[in-house]
Amino acid sequence: MKNYIYMDNSATTPVKKEVLDEMIPYFIENYGNPSSIYSLGSKSKNAVESARDKVAKVLGAKSSEIFFTGGGSESDNWAIKGIAFANKNKGNHIITTKIEHHGVLHTCEYLERKGFKVTYLDVDEYGMIDINDLKNSITDETILITIMFANNEIGTIQPIKEIGEIAKEKGIYFHTDAVQAVGHVKIDVNELNIDLLSLSAHKFYGPKGIGALYIRRGVKLDSLIEGGAQERSRRAGTENVPGIVGLGKAIELAYENIDENNEKLITLRERLIKKVFDSIDYVRLNGHPTKRLPGNVSFCFKFIEGESLLLSLDMEGIAGSSGSACTSGSLDPSHVLLAIGLPHEIAHGSLRLSLGDFNTKEEIDYVVEKLTEIVQRLRDMSPLYEKAKEEK
Ligand SMILES: Cc1ncc(COP(=O)(O)O)c(C=O)c1O
Repeated sequence: MKNYIYMDNSATTPVKKEVLDEMIPYFIENYGNPSSIYSLGSKSKNAVESARDKVAKVLGAKSSEIFFTGGGSESDNWAIKGIAFANKNKGNHIITTKIEHHGVLHTCEYLERKGFKVTYLDVDEYGMIDINDLKNSITDETILITIMFANNEIGTIQPIKEIGEIAKEKGIYFHTDAVQAVGHVKIDVNELNIDLLSLSAHKFYGPKGIGALYIRRGVKLDSLIEGGAQERSRRAGTENVPGIVGLGKAIELAYENIDENNEKLITLRERLIKKVFDSIDYVRLNGHPTKRLPGNVSFCFKFIEGESLLLSLDMEGIAGSSGSACTSGSLDPSHVLLAIGLPHEIAHGSLRLSLGDFNTKEEIDYVVEKLTEIVQRLRDMSPLYEKAKEEK
């Protein structure tokens, strides 16, 4: 077994060797600027276009509908601000959910400060939106629905097809933050009526700082970054050629054996859940029991502080997370866990273990063994736990 067990694949993933091998020549030999007209430039341009084709193929999109960005946050910002500013003559209302990533939530809050109105839909105890709530919140002013494909903390997958149908029927643009879903879930933008979709390479064994935005042909949106004519004049800046090549290879690999990979991940996930419930009491599984990402497991352990749990796991060489990478480090409980109705004291005891292609059955068993010991040790220091035991 490895001496460090990594179970935080929703925060980021390692770059696969095959991905890095494809990227390296674009740092050293094929370093041309894709905009240059000599052959060294064309080599880079061809590599960028080939990666664009690979992304388009996976999403069922046209290559001309894929735009490379600096990652998931940029894609979210571009989609939401771009639609809002380009369509403000049609209306000023946006619908989203309370459990979005901050890339979406903070962008919506920014737009509220600029005079837009935003509805933040509630979710149920599993983190699922109610389709009727969505229908009822649409007004004549609604120009955009932005709802994440799958949640980064609790793994719940939203009813994307139904949302897409409603948006299409009402003539409202539909953007989905699919950063956690791409590479792990099969997605066809036409079947699902998605108009804009954000993705990020480092969530599926590609490099960090590179992503893409799918923009359906004909969608009206402003640019976020002005400058040169790159990305058909819609996203300026010299292309991150090695990153784009890496994204292309990583997405291709992710979908090559997706069914097999997911089956393996689901088996590991279910083993982890069962073992934890068999060995630890006062535990709750967050997120939907079945409509969830194959590798996501999210627990809340009563009478425990998530931070102490993480530090103790780290001392045993195990990496997990208390929520999303962006909120850990802050003492506020996760907005996602509060939105699914958990009280603060329970939300504080959260642990996300997100499994990836490199995890094994042996690692699961080892993690559960250590987790059981740590939870017991931490609870032994909790007067509330003692009281609960006495009352039992
Ligand atoms: C759902 C979701 N959206 C957006 C992002 C931001 O992506 P990036 O790190 O590429 O900016 C993340 C990253 O954790 C995420 O999980």
